[in-house]
Amino acid sequence: MNAFFFGIYPYIALAIFFLGSLVRFEREQYTWKTDSSQLLHRGNLRLGSNLFHIGIISLFFTHLVGLLTPKEVYHAFGLTTEAKQLMAIVGGTLLGIMCFIGMLILIHRRLSNERIAAVTKPMDKFLYLWLFATLCLGLISIVFSLDHLDGHVMVLLGMWAQKIVTLQGSDAAVIITGVPTIYKIHMFMGMTLFVLFPFTRLVHVWSGFGAVTYLSRAWQLVRTR
Ligand code: HEM
Repeated sequence: MNAFFFGIYPYIALAIFFLGSLVRFEREQYTWKTDSSQLLHRGNLRLGSNLFHIGIISLFFTHLVGLLTPKEVYHAFGLTTEAKQLMAIVGGTLLGIMCFIGMLILIHRRLSNERIAAVTKPMDKFLYLWLFATLCLGLISIVFSLDHLDGHVMVLLGMWAQKIVTLQGSDAAVIITGVPTIYKIHMFMGMTLFVLFPFTRLVHVWSGFGAVTYLSRAWQLVRTR
């Protein structure tokens, strides 16, 4: 189980994420959108969407930096493992709660408004459920982290991620054996978000990050006839 889910599945998920996104972009560009519901009903969209997006995008980047920075690097900057774990607990709790409240508002808005409920596809519901469950498991795992404030589980999780991105899947699977199950379930749910990505509205995340290129794009040339 460990060898498959934590040594092989990450690569399956990443392959589906990259190739699936490419195929969807190539073949179904008209479906590549956020599926905004703003025109149907505004309600609490601004509040819910902002809380959710600020929370989830920050969580994404803090997971990325937190997991992929080798401990030698942050130690060199004078940050101890214990202090980093405390930062992760406090930051993760605040961002997680922000995202949680945002999601509750978005889900309530989506299900309670007739017009939005009518355009909500089964896949949307599944995605909301999966995102919400992953988030809740992440928040629950913080309670477990309070039991081991020396940060050793956080170090193992970081080593696992670093082995995965450096293509050492079998070593990664060995490292993960010492990690409690609650984290493993959260990791499986998180990795599966990459699998769901090309088949849902999540493809808009590519465009969200892609929009940054506007900052350096060439001027538009407007010529008179
Ligand atoms: C990269 C930056 C991102 C941008 C610019 C962006 C932008 C948007 C926009 C414009 C909407 C439509 C809101 C509306 O008018 O109805 C939306 C909806 C949504 N986004 Fe994002 N997004 C980003 C990242 C993410 C991420 C990382 C996730 C989750 C992993 C996500 C999940 C969602 C979901 C689930 C909705 C539907 C909300 C609803 O209508 O109930 N987005 N996003």
